[in-house]
Amino acid sequence: MSLVANKCETPNCGKEATLQCPTCLIMGIKGSYFCSQPCFKGFWKEHKIIHLLAQGSNKSSAVAETNGYNPWPRYHFTGKLRPFPQTPMRTVPENIQRPDYADHPRGRALSEEAMRGNSTIKVLDDEEIEAMRVACKLGRECLDEAAKACDVGVTTDELDRLVHEAAIERDCYPSPLNYYNFPASCCTSVNEVICHGIPDTRPLEDGDICNVDVTVYHHGFHGDLNETFFVGNVSEKHKKLVKVTYEALCKAIEIVRPGVKYREIGNVIQKHVQPHGFSVVKSYCGHGIHRLFHTAPNVPHYAKNSAVGVMKAGNSFTIEPMISEGVAKSDQWPDDWTAVTADGLRSAQFEQTLLVTENGCEIMTRRRENNGQPHFMDKM
Ligand code: MF3
Ligand code: CO
Ligand code: CO
Repeated sequence: MSLVANKCETPNCGKEATLQCPTCLIMGIKGSYFCSQPCFKGFWKEHKIIHLLAQGSNKSSAVAETNGYNPWPRYHFTGKLRPFPQTPMRTVPENIQRPDYADHPRGRALSEEAMRGNSTIKVLDDEEIEAMRVACKLGRECLDEAAKACDVGVTTDELDRLVHEAAIERDCYPSPLNYYNFPASCCTSVNEVICHGIPDTRPLEDGDICNVDVTVYHHGFHGDLNETFFVGNVSEKHKKLVKVTYEALCKAIEIVRPGVKYREIGNVIQKHVQPHGFSVVKSYCGHGIHRLFHTAPNVPHYAKNSAVGVMKAGNSFTIEPMISEGVAKSDQWPDDWTAVTADGLRSAQFEQTLLVTENGCEIMTRRRENNGQPHFMDKM
């Protein structure tokens, strides 16, 4: 028996290769070895054509945007992104504490529904605050795992798998899983997807922007955060969209302290993004979060809103602005989750879970590395 090492697929490389293209593995395409990530990325434009050939599509115009899978032939897509096949719903070991909706046939969160119409904002006691700190720190660690892996050729389903495994390793239930039947463990929102994108087997492409939104449930409390990542070389205009969105979140966080009205947050965000020609998405808001995933207060990100409530020390809530390059209006894919921009232009988002303190706020989901800077800044 002879063992012959595989050679890198990049022309003229010829190095010994052990890495395999994840898409080829899923599709059952033999071969496709690369010596390193840089070689895989460098040859990606040419290599990905074999995925389409394998599906029987050989039109080069199809290369950029179709994959031979269209579950909704009558739906008019607003942009270039298309859904790809999803993998089966993942399971969580029985020893991990589950929220009520995890086992409801339609994923209904009955504990949240019982509070609908009640605008009272919970004030957490010291024990509850400490439990939130732990859940938020663990959620942050899971998001950082996705950040490390987010790159050209990696599928959003692979990011979901990493987040799912990271949550389980930390004794957490991945909060999105089965929430109103959401079929995955995190949301992955690429390019024109505003939020609530479902991870699938589409490999990320050079120049994409990809938001990963992670929430974990640990010992009865949820911690929720998201960041938008760069995939390979992103254009300057899309880098600016991501940067301005992050700045808007920071500026909003700066005003958080007892006595401030929740409705002020939207004024700060819109004031920052509007001069750049960007728009604020109105249909999705920040929210109270603790023992419940989504509860009072409702926190709009747009100016002149009529949100109810005044910040008090001990309140915990998210700010998670979604900022679009073009129109603010959203549309929804027929999967009943994926929110996209009505004009197909891109949208970016950042989210943190906050605790109102006596002097201001604590960013419970903050990054503890690189000065707390978001991952995209590591690549600027
Ligand atoms: N994490 C999202 C938020 O920031 C909610 C996702 S709910 C899901 O509020 F079902 F889509 F996962
Ligand atoms: Co949230
Ligand atoms: Co979130």
